[in-house]
Amino acid sequence: MSNDSAAIDVVVLAAGKGTRMRSGIPKVLHPIAHQSMLGHVLDVVDSLRSTPAPVNLHVVYGHGGDQVRETFSERDCNWVLQKQQLGTGHAVNQAMPSIEDDSLVLVLCGDVPLIMGSTLRELISVSSANSVGLLTVEVDNPTGYGRILRDDSGSVLGIVEEKDASDTEKLVTETNTGILVAPSKQLRKWLSSLKNDNAQGELYLTDVIGMAVREGVLVNTVHPQSSAEVMGINNKIQLAAAEREYQNRQAVDLMVSGATLRDPARVDVRGTVELGQDVCIDVNVVFSGAVTLGSNVSIGQNCVISDASIGDNVVIKANSVVENAIVGAGSVVGPFARLRPQTVLGEDVSIGNFVEVKKSTFGDRSKAGHLSYVGDATIGAEVNIGAGVITCNYDGLSKHKTIIGDGAFVGSNCELIAPVSVGENATVGAGTTLVDDAPGGQLSLSRPEQVTLSEWIRPKDRKNV
Ligand code: UD1
Ligand code: CA
Repeated sequence: MSNDSAAIDVVVLAAGKGTRMRSGIPKVLHPIAHQSMLGHVLDVVDSLRSTPAPVNLHVVYGHGGDQVRETFSERDCNWVLQKQQLGTGHAVNQAMPSIEDDSLVLVLCGDVPLIMGSTLRELISVSSANSVGLLTVEVDNPTGYGRILRDDSGSVLGIVEEKDASDTEKLVTETNTGILVAPSKQLRKWLSSLKNDNAQGELYLTDVIGMAVREGVLVNTVHPQSSAEVMGINNKIQLAAAEREYQNRQAVDLMVSGATLRDPARVDVRGTVELGQDVCIDVNVVFSGAVTLGSNVSIGQNCVISDASIGDNVVIKANSVVENAIVGAGSVVGPFARLRPQTVLGEDVSIGNFVEVKKSTFGDRSKAGHLSYVGDATIGAEVNIGAGVITCNYDGLSKHKTIIGDGAFVGSNCELIAPVSVGENATVGAGTTLVDDAPGGQLSLSRPEQVTLSEWIRPKDRKNV
């Protein structure tokens, strides 16, 4: 069993080129949900920091390295350059000069993004100064992977790579995941004696397992909860499969927290979602950033909800987009509504179809039911915004504010030329172009007089005159 005080030095291999992604972006920067593959791996490493042992992080980079380093410039990390990709053993060896003799080295791959903290903790727990922990997995089709060789009693003898394996060895279905924990002092020695006399002419990390066994160092194996956890991503097909697997985990988490998902395969979480009780989420909903949903929230089909806080008993109807907004309890939004950043809705507010709200506040029980643009506005309680009302907030140079008092009624198709204000309980008549403030409690109206031309003849009827 491991000595609790031994430091853990995590070496993440991320120097590979990723040719099969057919992309200008380094492989480990391709995203799963909201985060690059390497970002997911580094988050798992961060989750290990709660162990009693100190955790040091080393990332071996090479191809596209500057872009990788820049992306993670804020992480507390030792960047190790592997100038030439001479194999996984060579890659780990580049980090060894920065690692003390008495620590445990955990090797991870930047392109195995779904690995779980619990699995790594278990692997660390079976490793010590004189034993190696090896993460292996049984698969139906082992093609391409290193095979785990065991003796008759089941003890590990070593790993053979696919390209070096005999026909009998190829029948083995227990495969190497590429993830292991080894005591630093011995690992340093084993890595320095690696040879590239193999089918790929590479320095294989996997060869250290045979060396350990020959020296009488125990090799303990641990398995992941599912093989998806150790899925390696080499192409866009595997990237899509990993995304699905990740989203499946998110959907399961939502359901475990009590959400009803009409179809768990048709909800995507690209960030975090916190939930109250009895939340119901219909199909094709995408959450991103940090989202909070209160109790009894219902979200209709095809909604996009980003960085939003949605209060209790809110209904977001189909095809609505909510971004960086706060929606008060009991409000109803949509269908086809768009709440843009810095929108704050009070309680029991109604925002109907084809209404766009930006950087505006609505007081309790106010309504904008149809076809409006409300931008840079402060709207009181119990205000009615009629169909087609537009706040003209932009003069081509600056943005200006519209202020509407409690109980005001703005008739249909008004243009409110900001800066402008509408007083409490004021009425603005339909069709008004409001250029001056509308006083409270009164009717303001700008409307050309209606004329009727009784002698007028339609063009198509003129030829008969
Ligand atoms: C490796 C293992 C194999 C295992 C498989 C699991 C070896 C020799 N083989 O094979 O047993 O079944 O992973 O997915 O270890 N890398 C570097 N520098 C290098 C070479 C590789 O940083 O010089 C990085 C790659 O970017 C990648 C990781 O190491 O993240 C694994 O390398 P890869 O070439 O994909 O190994 P496999 O051939 O898949
Ligand atoms: Ca390889």
